[in-house]
Amino acid sequence: MRHFLNLSDAGPDGVAAMLADALDRKAARAGWRKGRPDTDAPLAGHVLAMIFEKNSTRTRVSFDMAIRQLGGTSIVMEAGQMQLGRGESVADTARVLSAYVDAIMIRTDDHAKVEAMAHYASVPVINGLTDASHPCQIMADLLTILESGKALPGLKVAWLGDGNNVLASIVEAASLMQFDVVAACPQGFQPEEDAIVRASGRARIVADPREAVEGADIVITDTWISMGQAHADTKLTAMMPYQVDEALMAKAKPDAKFLHCLPAHRGEEVTDAVIDGPQSLIWAEAENRLHAQKSILRWCFGQIG
Ligand code: CP
Ligand code: NVA
Repeated sequence: MRHFLNLSDAGPDGVAAMLADALDRKAARAGWRKGRPDTDAPLAGHVLAMIFEKNSTRTRVSFDMAIRQLGGTSIVMEAGQMQLGRGESVADTARVLSAYVDAIMIRTDDHAKVEAMAHYASVPVINGLTDASHPCQIMADLLTILESGKALPGLKVAWLGDGNNVLASIVEAASLMQFDVVAACPQGFQPEEDAIVRASGRARIVADPREAVEGADIVITDTWISMGQAHADTKLTAMMPYQVDEALMAKAKPDAKFLHCLPAHRGEEVTDAVIDGPQSLIWAEAENRLHAQKSILRWCFGQIG
């Protein structure tokens, strides 16, 4: 049974195999109608159930299209409309859904809920974002970096702003794929210790945004207020020096690329000039959610890696 709760579940070889598979499958269907299944339809007959306890545009639609292109179908549920939203346990939900569907993707707050889902389910469980991590997003980011012509080992990735779930998965990826992360986060908003420890020396936290971006190959940021967090003016004020603008971008390598998982808060964590500028790969990154999800699904079913 393969669950994809974090990148380490797949390990470096699994991640590399998924990235290679995603690149191949993307190329093989270039120019096709989005709803046309891949020629081999490798997940024909498979049903993916998706549970959302938080909002989503990209994860919802890309997973739905991913399973369709692989020949399968999906059921999308809002947790608030399920008995889960009235107190039925994650364990009981996992056992019941396992009888109906072939895989479960869940987006929730507490990472322990995803772990419980995986523990009690008898089908693969995929983490579609928790407060602790967002591994599916980072698979798309790695794919986008590879497509830009950069190899992962030895890259310098700069992170600006909040020490959040997305950063935790980037740090995990750095450890697995041998690149370096320098995260500039204001005091009080630095990532949790365990994410850094897991990076086995591949990540560094600094206070100065210019130090993080200096000579970077990739510059990444994300919203300053994640889903479920209270809006706080004090946090926005602390984050302002970490805004990715053209002056900060200019400190990175001349061929550096900008990534953002989206949704973006233009004028907060990033300026229009950067996110819409020539170094930004955000639309390819968003599209690659689809191609990455397909390979994650195939990995979960033991078809690759
Ligand atoms: N990046 C991302 O996960 O987007 P959604 O919240 O729209 O799914
Ligand atoms: N850090 C953000 C990512 C959204 C895709 C959040 O958790 O809201």
